[in-house]
Amino acid sequence: MKELIDKLYSETALTRAEYIKLIKEHSEDDAQYLFSLSVKRREEYYGKDVYVRGLIEFTNYCKNDCYYCGIRRSNKNTERYRLTKDDIMSCCEQGYDLGFRTFVLQGGEDPYFTDERICDIVSAIKTNYPDCAVTLSIGEKEHDSYKAYFDAGADRYLLRHETADNSHYSRLHPADMSPRHRKQCLYDLKSIGYQVGCGFMVGSPFQTAENLADDMLFIKELSPQMVGIGPFISQHDTPFSEMASGTMEQTLFMLGLIRLTIPNVLLPSTTALGTIHPLGREKGILAGANVIMPNLSPVSVRKKYLLYDNKICTGDEAAECKKCLQMRMKSIGYNVVTSRGDCKPK
Ligand code: 5AD
Ligand code: FES
Repeated sequence: MKELIDKLYSETALTRAEYIKLIKEHSEDDAQYLFSLSVKRREEYYGKDVYVRGLIEFTNYCKNDCYYCGIRRSNKNTERYRLTKDDIMSCCEQGYDLGFRTFVLQGGEDPYFTDERICDIVSAIKTNYPDCAVTLSIGEKEHDSYKAYFDAGADRYLLRHETADNSHYSRLHPADMSPRHRKQCLYDLKSIGYQVGCGFMVGSPFQTAENLADDMLFIKELSPQMVGIGPFISQHDTPFSEMASGTMEQTLFMLGLIRLTIPNVLLPSTTALGTIHPLGREKGILAGANVIMPNLSPVSVRKKYLLYDNKICTGDEAAECKKCLQMRMKSIGYNVVTSRGDCKPK
């Protein structure tokens, strides 16, 4: 198994069969060996720096009905909210004062936020904070919408592909959502000039090692600047409420593989990872991740953006999360840095 990890470390592409073998058959020792190399690779590009992104969850209305997600449209128990432009601007103001230089606007696919409204918000943020990057994470749109947001100043776009396998995709989503369209969106975003992030849940229902290997091959082919992964965590009001959640161990292993597959990738240690284990985010950094995304949303809405159960940090002010994360990163020998945190060239 170590030969395969060495092969990946030497930047030689692995075959599908080799990824499957690694994912299925690795021992705890192999995982530790992987992390020693993924951390080394990470430090070649990013040293001990950890980039922070201020996450603003600005709407939990969603027209989609993904089986795993707590804000799916059929969930009648979610109290819906939208932030106003003023609310969003005051999150940015607070975030800017705390040192954030990247804002991530994340929301459900909410038709209220037309292209015009999104462009207006993006250009207001870029006008007030020209030294900041704006990342959008608002789902599947058509090419011309993506182009309009880009022209308004958006720099980056996150759209997890969720799973590269079409039949697995159809077990996680209703028939009106197309895996081909989702992948097309990622290629459109790339061709427009965005820094792009894809990603998936680890341990999502019905996921196999073969699916994860295909995710790795898809990531390699797309070659995004960012990859967002976290464990699947069941949510009590969804059709997957009884499904087992993903594990920390497998998520860490996939983080290590992603770091070696795309050495300079921006790789968050996610809130979901911090939710399944109290030291999940620290362990994510120690597996090769280099980004954290604390929440800047007003505390009054935090408990309404519950994609999964037991989400952490829903009662904490942004300033507290920032301090807490600084301390956590320091405890493992890393520093939170306040810069835009762009992807380093290869
Ligand atoms: N558990 C973990 N992650 C989830 N997401 C949605 N629902 C869940 C869940 N139950 C992830 C999806 C989505 C991102 C915003 O959050 O991958 O793309
Ligand atoms: Fe939010 Fe620790 S990061 S309270």
